[in-house]
Order: sequence, then structure tokens, then C-alpha cells
Amino acid sequence: MTKKIFSGVQPSGNLHLGNYLGAIKNFVDLQNQKETECIYCIVDLHAITVKQEPKELKKNIRETLATFIASGLNYEKSIIFNQSSVTAHAEGAWILSCTARMGWLNRMTQFKEKAGKDKEKASVGLYAYPVLMAADILLYDATHVPVGHDQKQHLELCRDIAQRFNSDFNVEDFLKVPEPLIQKNFSRIMSLKDGMKKMSKSDPSDLSRINLTDEKDLIVNKIKKAKTDNMPMPAIEENLEKRPEVENLLGIYSSLSNQTLDQSKKEFDGKNFSDFKEKLSDLLVEKITPISKEIKKLLNDSKNLDNILYDGSQKADKIASKKIKKIKELIGF
Ligand code: AMP
Ligand code: TRP
Repeated sequence: MTKKIFSGVQPSGNLHLGNYLGAIKNFVDLQNQKETECIYCIVDLHAITVKQEPKELKKNIRETLATFIASGLNYEKSIIFNQSSVTAHAEGAWILSCTARMGWLNRMTQFKEKAGKDKEKASVGLYAYPVLMAADILLYDATHVPVGHDQKQHLELCRDIAQRFNSDFNVEDFLKVPEPLIQKNFSRIMSLKDGMKKMSKSDPSDLSRINLTDEKDLIVNKIKKAKTDNMPMPAIEENLEKRPEVENLLGIYSSLSNQTLDQSKKEFDGKNFSDFKEKLSDLLVEKITPISKEIKKLLNDSKNLDNILYDGSQKADKIASKKIKKIKELIGF
């Protein structure tokens, strides 16, 4: 059976190694597998749940597209588009917000984290965010959704919404209940400065992350300065729970070289830390600099990027508008 893949990334700028290894690399692998149809959405409607500078948002949408293409997504094989240009997403989100229950949304931990102490000041959109995400997925009858670990709860909500809608309107299997695809090996890339914190675009220290636009010298310098400890490289049987920074660096190495953590541990058992860091920098430079060069090249031609998005949106709209039409009929509109 053909797998229908749908996923989304927010256009919030500064895509980094965590986004690449946790999401985009996986998107490319899925695109290149047999019997998959992939749809990748730049979720600009989700982005405005927190304040955005209009010029900056426009730039970030193009930059996200450029990053997708530079990383190996092919806009002729996969549908790539931005969410706001297909109106069914906003319509679907409203309709499904009448299916979703307050109690379900009240459990969402990402809202609690993002809204922080002052929940009263958070936008209504930030609260309803997971319902829009459910609409994204359900409009395309997606069967599989590749996401990072942090999105697992939102996907469970999406499944609940689909099942509730189907039972409310007595239409078995009308909204397809999707399966999450969460990477087993290394789904969380941590900060280079603190092995307990996720690598993130919002970290004030640029030294905490490798951006996909970083050039060679910067990458080498960031790895040189990455936090480690005073102990030697771990032996295969060593448990790395108490050495999160070392585990993270080895994890990055193993993900980039498509090997298991144990294989990487074995490769460096008994070697110096400096040897390992040098190998890691070399590998990062080899994998990341072609991407950063290509991103810069693509960004020089914004017209071309806008055309790609336009074409993708047309294709997405064909699918989504059919589904929303059926949804409206069921409701009685
Ligand atoms: P975001 O930038 O939060 O919209 O995330 C886009 C995608 O990248 C999502 O699938 C996230 O789960 C994934 N992601 C973001 N940061 C990391 C990280 N540090 N490690 C692994 N995956 C990540
Ligand atoms: N909420 C997701 C994130 O922050 C992005 C997203 C929006 C998404 N819609 C989606 C992911 C649909 C998967 C499927 O990472």
C-alpha cells in the first residue's frame, strides 16, 4: 500500500542541525523510498501564533523552502507548499475546533511551555495550534506523519479528533487516523553547550547550535568549543547517561555517518577526544557546507522560489479542496 506522508516545519528562520537530523533528513529518505507520496508544508499559519515581523516572515518562508531543496527534497517528486496559500487549512481548523474538546487541549504540554507563566497573554491561536495541525494532516488523508518527539502529543490529539469526527457524523474511516513516524535512533539533538537542553533556534548562544547556513570555519570552531568532560572517549559497554554532551556528539556523528551509536563508540574507543572532534568537524563540514552553499544560491533567486511554492500550492489545493468540500457536505453546509 502506498504510504501518504505529511509533515510541516515552521518558517521561523535559522534551521539547524536538530531540524536536519530530526526532521528534514528523514523527509528526504521517505521521499526516496518506494511507494510513498510525500507532502511537506511550510506552516506559516502556525508561525503567526507568536509575533512575527512581516518582512522577516516572508524571508523565512523562502529560506525554509531553500533549505528543503538544498537538503535533497525534490519539488517534482514531493508536494512542497506553504500553508496559508491553501485556504482549506484555516477552514478545516475552524471546523475541527468544534470537534476537539477543551479538556483535550488543556492537556497539551507544548502550550504550557510556550505560554509560560502568563497564559492570559498567549494568543488564542497558540492554544488552538494543535487543531490546525490536525487539519493539516487530515485534509490529505495522510497515513504517516514524520515528526520529532516533541510533536507526539499533538499527533495523538489529531487521532482523537479524527475518531471523534467520524463517530459524530457516523462516517467510519472518513478521516484517516494517521500513524506517527518518530525516529528511533536519535530523535533529539541537544545543545552543544548543555547536553540536557534541546538544540534550538531560540537559544541566545549561536555556539549552542550548528545552523544549516554555517560555513566551514564556523562549524570547526563550534565543535572545538562544544562542551565535553575530562574523561576519555567511552568504551562500547559504557553507559552514557551521565555524559549527555558526549552522548550527543557521538549521536550526531553516528546519525550523519548512518551508523549505530555502538559502531561510533567502537570507532573511537581508546582514541583522544581531539581526534574524535576533528573527525566530527570533518564530517559536519562534508555534510553541511554543500547544503549551506546551495541555500545561498537558491536565495539569490526569490522569484524562482516563489514559483516553486505557487506550483506546490496548486497541487496541494487540488487535494485539500476536495476533502473540505466533503467535510462541509457531511456537516450540512
Ligand atoms: P520546529 O523548528 O520546532 O518547527 O521543528 C521542526 C522539526 O524539527 C520538528 O519535527 C521538530 O521535532 C524537529 N526538531 C527541532 N529541534 C530539534 C532537535 N533539537 N532535535 C531533533 N529534532 C528537532
Ligand atoms: N507543529 C509542528 C512543529 O512545530 C509543525 C507542524 C504543523 C506539523 N503542522 C504539521 C508537523 C502537520 C507534522 C504534521 O514542529
